[in-house]
Amino acid sequence: DKGPYRHFMLKEIHDQPQSIARLLASVADTHAMTMKPFLPDLDFSKIDKVTLVACGTAYYACHVAKTWFEEIAGISAEIDIASEYRYRKRIHAPRELVIVVSQSGETADTLAALKDVRGHVAARLGVVNVATSSIAREADHVVDIEVGPEIGVASTKAFTGQMLALLSVALKAGVERGQIDKAHLASLVQDLASLPRIMSETIALEGRVSEVAQEIAPARDAIFIGRGLQYPMALEAALKLKEISYIHADGYAAGELKHGPIALIDRDMPVIVFDSAGPLQGKTRSNAAEVAARGGRVWHVGHDAKGGIQTPECPDRVLPFVYAVVAQMLAYHVALAKGTDVDQPRNLAKSVTVE
Ligand code: F6R
Repeated sequence: DKGPYRHFMLKEIHDQPQSIARLLASVADTHAMTMKPFLPDLDFSKIDKVTLVACGTAYYACHVAKTWFEEIAGISAEIDIASEYRYRKRIHAPRELVIVVSQSGETADTLAALKDVRGHVAARLGVVNVATSSIAREADHVVDIEVGPEIGVASTKAFTGQMLALLSVALKAGVERGQIDKAHLASLVQDLASLPRIMSETIALEGRVSEVAQEIAPARDAIFIGRGLQYPMALEAALKLKEISYIHADGYAAGELKHGPIALIDRDMPVIVFDSAGPLQGKTRSNAAEVAARGGRVWHVGHDAKGGIQTPECPDRVLPFVYAVVAQMLAYHVALAKGTDVDQPRNLAKSVTVE
């Protein structure tokens, strides 16, 4: 049931403050400011390498989580696309945890990757949205993101649910590996607790996002750039835009632009800059200035992005959630402006059970 919404995708975008609050209640105790004892049988004091494997949007959740595992838990993390991972020669570590992420829990390559590593690694964790799925049944440990059925083919609330699940697992790992003391944990849980409100504030930007979408809709191509945690969000934004609006889009690490893609810049190339606060903001802004100097059209998305899309203030750690929601709304409104089929984009299936 779409309720008052025109499309399932729009409904699912608007579901996110609730879906995130629900998952949060399962993993964190926001009164005691600690994590709840989820995944009791998975002990990170016995793990010193994490490998994250998935396809599509779920892979971008892994991409951002790599940084969380490294920064919060001090644990080496690798990522791979399931269709590559399963066919390459892998060097496993004895104390390695493989995490596969899949909304449907049925993606053929992801399931095959999970089966292939059985007996070669210390443990296998599945992050799914369907507790009865093949991946949930095959994995040794399961986190259910509990975001409810996702009907729109383009993933929205499952993506933010996957990010929260992985961030929570990284926190659990940090605690169990002795990387986080009580005070630090309390501040991290505080960040998580702010998420439902921050997501609501981001959704409230829909009017402004829709104005920018009207300007981007006529373009044939588009580029998203970001650094650090926002680099995977740039990739996700590009995927969302191409999936439902059929605009060819790419995401780049901002510092990579000058290594090739800047040759594409002219006045017909919109460049959306994920201009997040932090020590590298100046560098991202100078990359954006290089685009503008070559006649490119630039929109900044950030807390102090004047003229672009001004986002709510929030802790750096949870900024990817803000950018994810902006990316979803932007793709949605561009698709609406172009009149494409938002919920059933051409050539795509919700669940990819063939290789
Ligand atoms: C993009 C999208 C796809 C899926 C991918 C993996 O919006 O929905 O890229 O993320 O097909 O699907 P699951 O998560 O079911 O394994």
